[in-house]
Amino acid sequence: MPTEPGRDIRKVTLTRDGPALIEGPVEIVTDDGRAVRSDRFIVALCLCRRSNDYPFCDTSHRRRRRTE
Ligand code: FES
Repeated sequence: MPTEPGRDIRKVTLTRDGPALIEGPVEIVTDDGRAVRSDRFIVALCLCRRSNDYPFCDTSHRRRRRTE
C-alpha cells in the first residue's frame, strides 16, 4: 500500500478477548481529552475498560467473572 512521504503505516493487531497491540511510539487521547504517550515498541491498549492503568492494558481482561 503506498504511503505519503514521511508517513509510515502503523500496524494495529486486535486480539480476541484482550488488548489492541499497536506499534509504538504512540500518543493516545482518551475520551476525557487526556493525552498519554508511550514509547514502547509495542503498546497494548485496553479495550475491555477493566485496566487499572487505562488506556493501557494491565491484563485485567484475563480475570473471569463469576457466573453464580
Ligand atoms: S484489554 Fe487488557 S485490561 Fe483491558
